[in-house]
Amino acid sequence: MSDDRILTAARADEDVQYEAGLRPRTLDEYIGQDRIRENLHVSIAAARQRGEALDHVLLYGPPGLGKTTLAYVIANELGVAIRATAGPVIERAGDLAAMLTNLQAREALFIDEVHRMSPAIEEILYPAMEDYELDIMIGQGPSARSVKVPVHRFTLIGATTRTGLLTSPLRARFGIVHRLDYYTEDDIREIVQRSARIVGVPIDLDAAVEIARRSRGTPRVANRLLRRVRDYAQVRAGGHITLDVALQALRLLEVDEQGFDEVDRRLLRTIIEKFGGGPVGVGSLAAAMSEERDAIEDIYEPFLIQIGFLDRTPRGRVATARAYEYFGLAAPGRDRLW
Ligand code: ADE
Repeated sequence: MSDDRILTAARADEDVQYEAGLRPRTLDEYIGQDRIRENLHVSIAAARQRGEALDHVLLYGPPGLGKTTLAYVIANELGVAIRATAGPVIERAGDLAAMLTNLQAREALFIDEVHRMSPAIEEILYPAMEDYELDIMIGQGPSARSVKVPVHRFTLIGATTRTGLLTSPLRARFGIVHRLDYYTEDDIREIVQRSARIVGVPIDLDAAVEIARRSRGTPRVANRLLRRVRDYAQVRAGGHITLDVALQALRLLEVDEQGFDEVDRRLLRTIIEKFGGGPVGVGSLAAAMSEERDAIEDIYEPFLIQIGFLDRTPRGRVATARAYEYFGLAAPGRDRLW
């Protein structure tokens, strides 16, 4: 995997602190994802008016698009505290039971990678989500019995890359489900300008546009590029990010004009060179690239499909004429329009 690369959407340690400072706190401050914002605005206002907990919320979509950020925004708009954990971190049923019993009325519990809980832990969650009670087994053997422990009405906010990864009983228990999509270039430009304002670095409009163009529609990538370009501007150019400074910095960072990283390029090249442009099944593609199938499906493919470099057909993945063009290659006849 390429988690250390500048263009990867996966969260790196150094992003955590930085993102926390830049994170919007309200739906009004949150840029993009307009339909989701409007829907959440209505759901949250209704829950507040009724004095009830918000329905459980599932946020899904590729990494780096702001699922965690949105979870914190939701809690803030609800005016409640939020506790956060992640599917793989919850090792014992008792850990989750403790978190649930500690929640006060209407508070939020955020579970990142909610598809990665063990079945035993998921089982704890079902009655908690549905009836706000825990079924706890006491003792072992013939004397074992189950007791019901009530918990306050709470809101579970789950995040995952694809809903398809969730078991259906879990998915069915979320009343509010939203898919985050890649941001438009304009939204990313606005995010870059906002972040620059917050960290106090002057940036020209055309420089913000250029950074946005190379951020693969992903705020986390945009903020990371901004951080590196800002370093360059500080050390080499007196601190102000002009277009020229941004271009020099991006060249030094070897950031592609499309925002591609090495894995994107290798994926397209593999389809073109090893599979004659496709169609190729994702399993064969993953094997040929020595990458994990999930990473291809969750992280790389969605972006390449979105920008029209890759097609998903019933018979497998196909590199489009644009992909060939990108490498300066002639597309095979079937992709030609004439
Ligand atoms: N930082 C990261 N994502 C953001 C968003 N959607 N709006 C504003 N700032 C952000």
